[in-house]
Amino acid sequence: MTEYIRINKILDEDERYRLLNSQIKSLLVKEDKLISNLSNFAAALKDAFEKVSWVGFYLFDGQKLYLGPFQGNVACTNIEIGKGVCGTSAARRETIIVPDINEFPGHISCDRNSKSEMVVPLIQNDRLLGVLDLDSYKYNAFSKTDEEYLEEICKFLSDEIFPSNYE
Ligand code: SME
Repeated sequence: MTEYIRINKILDEDERYRLLNSQIKSLLVKEDKLISNLSNFAAALKDAFEKVSWVGFYLFDGQKLYLGPFQGNVACTNIEIGKGVCGTSAARRETIIVPDINEFPGHISCDRNSKSEMVVPLIQNDRLLGVLDLDSYKYNAFSKTDEEYLEEICKFLSDEIFPSNYE
């Protein structure tokens, strides 16, 4: 396992993601506890992109989403399926990019400085595991580039890192 992640801040986003995704694949190992892997993942992602003010997981317990490992300010602990950006992404099982959180009806505000947000669902064999949530203090922070690479890494997390008997 790699003990550190090194992303050069001079690189553009595309190059940072490519490096991050390959480094993440050696940092995270299935033999480690899920909470350790998700914690390291959140730290690596937060460190790689200055635009990210908060990144973390909301995990599905069979009924609702609850706060998992994250980096950033304290956040709300429970989100109902269908509520907020996280609950909507979980219900639709699709990535949601919100360029301006004021334009998203029902957005749940955990940090009044947040301006934009992106949520990617984690699905394993048709089963909802949770979501990855990213916030930014800038409007319009997330693009198709984030979507492409974060969906790829979330698929890796769901298929390779979450235990197959995860509950
Ligand atoms: N804004 C999210 C809630 C979680 S925080 O951003 C950390 C939402 O609307 O679901």
